[in-house]
Amino acid sequence: MRVLITGDHAGMTVRNEVKNLLEEMGIEHEDAGCSCETSVDYPDYALPAAKRIASGEFDRGIFICGTGIGMSIAANKVKGIRCALTHDVYSAKLTRQHNDSNVLAMGERVVGPGLAREVAKVWLETEFDGGRHANRIGKITSYEDQ
Ligand code: RB5
Repeated sequence: MRVLITGDHAGMTVRNEVKNLLEEMGIEHEDAGCSCETSVDYPDYALPAAKRIASGEFDRGIFICGTGIGMSIAANKVKGIRCALTHDVYSAKLTRQHNDSNVLAMGERVVGPGLAREVAKVWLETEFDGGRHANRIGKITSYEDQ
């Protein structure tokens, strides 16, 4: 699995923690997020990163900003992206099993690095259930093609 991480100035601590986790798990990854603490605009990071995942260059993405909300709104504008804004382990598991989410968004002003790591770990380890859930995702994909 290849994972693209990105984030703005408000998510650097959690982004670094997620990077540590990916290194520990031996998952190939790239950090395309901002590298400074000055204020940047989250769509400038979310949109190009989402496009690189939608194109197949990466399998999944983990996007971090202050709340995770801006990142998730922007990412979900890109065709083929199913971004889940998730700050708990239960939702992280279910959004993989039921929604086959390919991007996880989290907010550093909402969740600390310890919980963010657990959420990301479960999200990375959980497989899609398929079956009836695949039919439902197919309806979203069909809508994108209209
Ligand atoms: C930046 O201040 C903040 O607005 C951004 O990180 C994010 O939370 C937006 O949704």
